[in-house]
Amino acid sequence: MDIYEAISSRRDVRNEFSGDVVDEARLWRVLSAAHAAPSVGNTQPWDFVVIQDPAHLAAFAEHVAGCRADFARSLPADRAQTFDPIVVEGIEQSGTGIVVTYDADRGGPHVLGRHTVEETGRLSVGLAIQNLWLAATAEGLGVGWVSFYRPDAVRRLIDLPRGLDVVAWLCIGPVTQLQTVPDLERFGWRSRRPLADAVHRETFTTQSASASHGDGAVHPGYVPTESD
Ligand SMILES: Cc1cc2nc3c(=O)[nH]c(=O)nc-3n(C[C@H](O)[C@H](O)[C@H](O)COP(=O)(O)O)c2cc1C
Repeated sequence: MDIYEAISSRRDVRNEFSGDVVDEARLWRVLSAAHAAPSVGNTQPWDFVVIQDPAHLAAFAEHVAGCRADFARSLPADRAQTFDPIVVEGIEQSGTGIVVTYDADRGGPHVLGRHTVEETGRLSVGLAIQNLWLAATAEGLGVGWVSFYRPDAVRRLIDLPRGLDVVAWLCIGPVTQLQTVPDLERFGWRSRRPLADAVHRETFTTQSASASHGDGAVHPGYVPTESD
């Protein structure tokens, strides 16, 4: 699978986990892809806690169900109705969770490149996650990012040392298929924006003309969707 194919077929997965558990060799390959990400000051501020104990997965799934219910209660009636069928996690179905953490102290007091923009540290962790996500896609695995949790609950579950932060819980496992359209779009929650709306020229207030690349494709191998 080439990089553009991985980018266009990658999906956030909740419903399509096959029930098999990822084998150790593939898990290690996607973790090594994550670990190859760029990072501010070469700090590599990430760690990956792999969770496969069914009791731990069940405990986290129960916590997430509570957070999902809280969110549902906060919605106006029409949005609550749209949200109702949307599954927001595949924690037990995937068989494996990876908690990705951030250590702001890694790299010592003089992090090259982070002295003016503090968030570059966390952004580096996001890049590791994206590497993992694309590598998993190329491996025939699905990944679902879960953020319906209270960070303290995850801290307790994985016994995270003070000073480190939880960035993400990723569900990862073999899949039966990958959807071609994101769930949130399929269920009418929110659709993707056209690329031309996101590209600006010289100043933010100048919208890009979409015509320069014709169909707006990012690569000949990219399959535009209806919303492109
Ligand atoms: C930071 C972040 C947090 C997310 N949290 C959740 C989540 O808690 N539950 C969920 O179902 N999807 C979550 N997602 C997945 C997004 O809903 C998904 O990426 C988006 O709808 C686009 O779909 P796609 O990834 O399949 O292209 C998250 C994605 C990101 C990047």
